[in-house]
Amino acid sequence: MKHTDVKELFASSEKYLNTEVTVCGWVRTWRDSKSIAFIELNDGTSFKNLQLIIEKGSLAENEIKPALVVGAALCVKGNFIPSERNGYEMSVKSITVLGECPQDYPLQKKHHTLEFLRTIPHLRPRTKYFEAVFAVRSRLSYAIHKYFQEHGYKYVHTPIITGSDCEGAGEMFRVTTQPWNAAAKNENEYYSADFFAAKAGLTVSGQLEGEVAATGLGRIYTFGPTFRAEHSNTTRHAAEFWQIEPEVCFADLHDIIEIAEEFIKFIISDVVSNCPDELAYFNERAEKGLLDKLNGVLTSEFGKITYTDAVEVLKNSGKEFKYPVYWGCDLQTEHERYLTEEYFKKPLFVTDYPADIKAFYMKQNPDGKTVAATDLLVPGIGEIIGCSEREADSEKLKSAMLKRNMPLESYVEYLDTRKYGTVPHSGFGLGMERILMYITGVQNIRDTLLYPRTVGSL
Ligand code: 4AD
Ligand code: MG
Repeated sequence: MKHTDVKELFASSEKYLNTEVTVCGWVRTWRDSKSIAFIELNDGTSFKNLQLIIEKGSLAENEIKPALVVGAALCVKGNFIPSERNGYEMSVKSITVLGECPQDYPLQKKHHTLEFLRTIPHLRPRTKYFEAVFAVRSRLSYAIHKYFQEHGYKYVHTPIITGSDCEGAGEMFRVTTQPWNAAAKNENEYYSADFFAAKAGLTVSGQLEGEVAATGLGRIYTFGPTFRAEHSNTTRHAAEFWQIEPEVCFADLHDIIEIAEEFIKFIISDVVSNCPDELAYFNERAEKGLLDKLNGVLTSEFGKITYTDAVEVLKNSGKEFKYPVYWGCDLQTEHERYLTEEYFKKPLFVTDYPADIKAFYMKQNPDGKTVAATDLLVPGIGEIIGCSEREADSEKLKSAMLKRNMPLESYVEYLDTRKYGTVPHSGFGLGMERILMYITGVQNIRDTLLYPRTVGSL
């Protein structure tokens, strides 16, 4: 269908001014007066709508009427002209209705609550709010690839179906083709009859395979879906979320922290430059002061504190926390948010956590108690990055695994990366939806995914 994108019209307005053009799109709103009708048309390419002006005398009544319907899909021919109020608009010559939109279309009003829109995930991309969410999500994805591609990282595709539970947290979704077999004597017998002849699940992280790739390719990143069967019914947890996981050889914790900060600033800066209309909209609709916040992030250094010092800060805060604070406790969201929102008031790396509350693969510090790991916390959300230097020493790694009752025989290949030419290496995982929430001010992870998957909701 020959037509011009609305984005193109606005971007190259000089070229199209006072010429005849054809546009296609959906009616967002319309107004009618005695002699003129107005339609706000959106085609998904431009955050700004194109205003259509219909001189009533110039078109037949039966051509105009079916177009003055919210949600109808139109193909419109007319002149692209200057306008005092809108910059540019279109003076309509003819209209073809591509798709009618009956009265029961749920998006009749201008503003709907986000809760309501969650009940119609198939229609919400037609709203301004979700158009903005998905435009920023798309640009952010591009910026993420751009950073890594420009910094010598290779993009690797790690498997989605896996036999290993990376975090050792036992929160994997099972992948199976067989019904429950009550006759099976034990788990092993049951799984050996399954598709892969082994217990399989959806990956919680591409890290272990990412490490395998990095220890040949030097610097890699993954960017794909990961799955967690956590029963955390919060505004920040999804069962299916996208994770970005770089893995860098010849880098210690200090190096990877520098990379993470540079990377976060790069992608925010890219979105700020390339999605100004969307961010201005979120600044009004989602988070007042969003633009100032983002500019603040770009121009200041992230905070840094050890876990041990953070525990002291929390103990001395005079705050009543729901979960008690003591050395060795896992930091809860309320603790993370106090540190980053009230104490530091900016993004914050908390480093050197107790080994007992972190994963087996993290490098053991000389103190024998902590590991070279860091979480990046941001105001309003809490953790957006989980990061660590990896334990490169084969014996230390094995002992950490045995302490956690992990079956070494299932990790022979992973352990080989330490046996053959082991190197210091580090990496992190960034939650796509969490950083998107931070950049847009969107408050609920369910509003960052096309089809959110959360506990009890598919
Ligand atoms: O801290 P996590 O569990 O770290 C890892 O998976 C490591 N293997 C990463 C690595 O070193 N390569 O998860 C990383 C990030 C979190 O900081 C959070 O942003 C996001 O993934 N995340 C979730 N996002 C949405 N919903 C969930 N259920 C999430 N769980 C983790
Ligand atoms: Mg984590």
